[in-house]
Amino acid sequence: MDHVETFRRPIKTIGAALFFAAVLILAVIVKGHFDLAEITGRLVAAKNWISLHPAPAVFFFTIVYIAVTGLSLPGATILTLAGGSLFGLWAGTVLVSFASVVGATVAMVVARHFLRDFVEHRFPQAVAKVNHGVAADGARYLFALRLIPVIPFFLVNLAMGLTRMPVLTFAWVSQLGMLPGTVVYVNAGRQLASIESAAGILSPRVILAFAALAALPFVAKAGNAWWSGRNALRAWRRPRRFDYNLIVIGAGSAGLVTAYIAATARARVALIEQSEMGGDCLNTGCVPSKALIRSAKLAKEGAHPERLGLKGRLEPDFPAIMRRIQRVIARVAPHDSAERYRGLGVDVIKGHAKVFDPWTVEVDGRRLSGRRIVLATGAEPAIPPIPGLADVEPLTSETLWNLKERPDRLLILGGGAIGCELAQSFARLGCETTIVEALPRLLSHEDHDVSQAMQALLMADGVAIVTGAAVRSFVQDGQSRRAHLADGQAIGFDRVVVAVGRRPRTRGFGLEELGLVEDGHLVVDDRLRTRVPTIYAAGDVIGRLQFTHAASHYAWFAAMNALFGDFKSWKLHTKTFPAVIYTHPEIARVGMSEAEAREKGVAYEITRYDLAELDRAIADEANEGFVKVLTVPGKDRILGATIVGARAGDMLGEFTLAMRNGLGLNAILRTIHPYPGWMEAAKATAGEWRRAHAPAWALNLSARILRWLRG
Ligand code: NAI
Repeated sequence: MDHVETFRRPIKTIGAALFFAAVLILAVIVKGHFDLAEITGRLVAAKNWISLHPAPAVFFFTIVYIAVTGLSLPGATILTLAGGSLFGLWAGTVLVSFASVVGATVAMVVARHFLRDFVEHRFPQAVAKVNHGVAADGARYLFALRLIPVIPFFLVNLAMGLTRMPVLTFAWVSQLGMLPGTVVYVNAGRQLASIESAAGILSPRVILAFAALAALPFVAKAGNAWWSGRNALRAWRRPRRFDYNLIVIGAGSAGLVTAYIAATARARVALIEQSEMGGDCLNTGCVPSKALIRSAKLAKEGAHPERLGLKGRLEPDFPAIMRRIQRVIARVAPHDSAERYRGLGVDVIKGHAKVFDPWTVEVDGRRLSGRRIVLATGAEPAIPPIPGLADVEPLTSETLWNLKERPDRLLILGGGAIGCELAQSFARLGCETTIVEALPRLLSHEDHDVSQAMQALLMADGVAIVTGAAVRSFVQDGQSRRAHLADGQAIGFDRVVVAVGRRPRTRGFGLEELGLVEDGHLVVDDRLRTRVPTIYAAGDVIGRLQFTHAASHYAWFAAMNALFGDFKSWKLHTKTFPAVIYTHPEIARVGMSEAEAREKGVAYEITRYDLAELDRAIADEANEGFVKVLTVPGKDRILGATIVGARAGDMLGEFTLAMRNGLGLNAILRTIHPYPGWMEAAKATAGEWRRAHAPAWALNLSARILRWLRG
C-alpha cells in the first residue's frame, strides 16, 4: 500500500533498533549466566552418548523433528542446527531432510483433512483460481517457495494442504527444494558445535557458515530465476553479441518514454515505428480530442452568452475546427519527433517490425539483435461483429479526424470515456447526437452517482441516450442509414462512431508464434516481463489502464527491468492511479470507487461536498458537481476520491499527492489554500470530514468552559 511505503523506512529503523537492543540484552544475560565451557562439555557428552547408542538417538531425534514440524510448532530451525551439531554434516543432512519432509507432509495432510473443505466452501472463487494455478504450475511454484524461504516453512505446508496438489508431488518437490537450505543450516549447526572458546565465534569457518546462511535466499532466488529463464529460452540460439541493449517496438507514449529512459541510462536503443511518431495519443487520441473539446466548450458558451452577461452568438465552423485540430497536432509533434529522439541518441527506424526470436527483430527484411525487446505496440479500436456495420462506413476514434464536413446526425456506439467525450463535443458543435450503450448505464466503471451526473449533463447538451440496448444490425438504404436495436427501435444517422473499447495490438508480428498471447492478451508479470524473459511490454498493449499517463508510468518499469533486471528489478505499482474524463464538467477519480470498495470488501466512510457551495464555481457559472472522498472508517486515510466538476482533473492532483504520500484529510485541512480557488473544494471536503468526526465530548467541554468564562 502506498501509505505503508512511506512508513516503511521508520518501521525498518525501529525494527533494526529493537533487534540490536535484543542482541545487547542477550549478550549481557549470556555474559552473566552462560558458561561456554559448560555447554561444550554437555555437547561432548551428548555426542558420546549418540556414538554409543546411535539407533535410539536417530530414532528419538527423528520423532521429535517430525512431531515439531508435523504439528507446526516453532523450533524447526533450532532442531535443524542441532542436527548438524549432534550428527555432523552428512548424517545430519540425511536425518533432517527425511524428517522435515515427513513432518511437512503430515502438516499438509492434517490441514487438508480439517480445513480444505471449509475454505473451499467459504472462498470458492479464490480457491478455484489457486487450484487452477497449482494444476498448471504448482510444482515449480512450491519448489521456488522451498528454495527461497520467503514464506515460513509451516505456512507453506498448511497453505498447500488447502489446495488440490497431490501429496506425493508435495513430498518430492519439498524434498528437492529444501535440500540446499538443509545443507547450509546443518553445516551452520556443525560449525556452532565446534566453538570451544569465545574467540572461536570469530573463526573463519563459523563466519563462513553463517555468511552462507545469510546468502542462501539471494543465491536461491538468483539460481531459480536463472534456471527458469534458461528453460524458457531453451528452444532458441542466443546470439553471441547484440546490436542493441534494447529494441523498442512502437513509438507511442510507452515506446517513446521507454526509449528515452534507456537512452538516458546510456543504453544503445533502437526505436521502431511503422506509422506516425507519437502514436495514438498525439495523432488520434488525447491531443486531437482535447483540441476538439476546447472548441466545443467555447461553442457551448457562445450559444448562451447571456449566462455571462454578453450578447451576440458564436457559430461553430466545423471545417475550420478540424483544421485547427491538425495545427495543434503539428505543434505538439516535435516533442515526439524522430529528430528529437535521434538527438537523444536513439536509433529511430521506420518500418514494420516482426519479432523473430527472443533477441531478434526483423524490420522490413533487416534483422536487428537486442539483449532485450520492449513491445509498445498500443491498442486499436475494437469493432464488434454487428451485421451491416462495414456497409455504413463506421468511424472510430482513429479515423473521425479525417471528417471534413459535420455530419448532421451522429450515432455513437458505446458510452465509455471516448463515447461520452465525443458525444458532448459533437452535440455542442450542432450534431444531432445519440449514444447507444449496451450496459444499463453510461461509464459503468464509475459509481452510479457519477453515471447519473454524466447522463444528466449530456442530456443538457442535447445528446439522446439509449442504454441497455444492443444494435442487432445496420442498414444502408440508398442515402439513409439506420441502426436496428434488439427492442425493435430504429435510429437513423449519417455517420456512426464505434467506441466500444480498445483491443491490444498483438497480432501479426510474431507474438502468437512465441506463445506470448493468451485469449488475445499479452501475458506479463508484475515486472512487465512476458513469458519469454527477454521480452517486456509497456502501454496499451498490456490491456490494462489504457491511458497515456499509465503508458509512461509502465515505460519506466519496462525500461529499467529490461536493462537491469538481472541485478535488480522493480515491481509495477498502479494503486494510486488517477484518471480524468474530459467532458464538461470533468469526471476525475483516484483510488477506489464505492463499487470497487464494496466488491473488495473494504470498509469505508463517505464524505461529500457539493460544488454548488464553492464560491469560485459560482463566480465561474460552473457550480455543477461534487467531491466524494472514501476514507477508512474513523480515520482520515483516503481510499479514493471522485470528483465531478469543471476543474475536476486539476483538483484531483491534491488527492493523488495525498494518497501517494500517506497524507490524510487532516493534512489537506491544515494546508493554506488561496481564496477564491477551485482547490478550496479539497479543503472544504476535508472540513466536512473533520466536522463529522469532531469529538462530541471535547465540544461539550468547550461549551461549558466558555459558558463559565462568560460568568
Ligand atoms: P470503454 O471500455 O471505456 O467503454 C466502452 C463502452 O462500450 C462500454 O460502456 C461498453 O459497455 C460499451 N459497449 C461495448 N460493446 C458495445 C456494443 N456492441 N454496443 C453498445 N455499447 C457497447 O472504452 P472506450 O470509451 O472506447 O475507451 C477505450 C479506453 O481508452 C478506455 O480504457 C478508456 O478509459 C480510455 N480513454 C480514456 C479517456 C480519458 O480518460 N479521458 C479518453 C479516451 C479513452
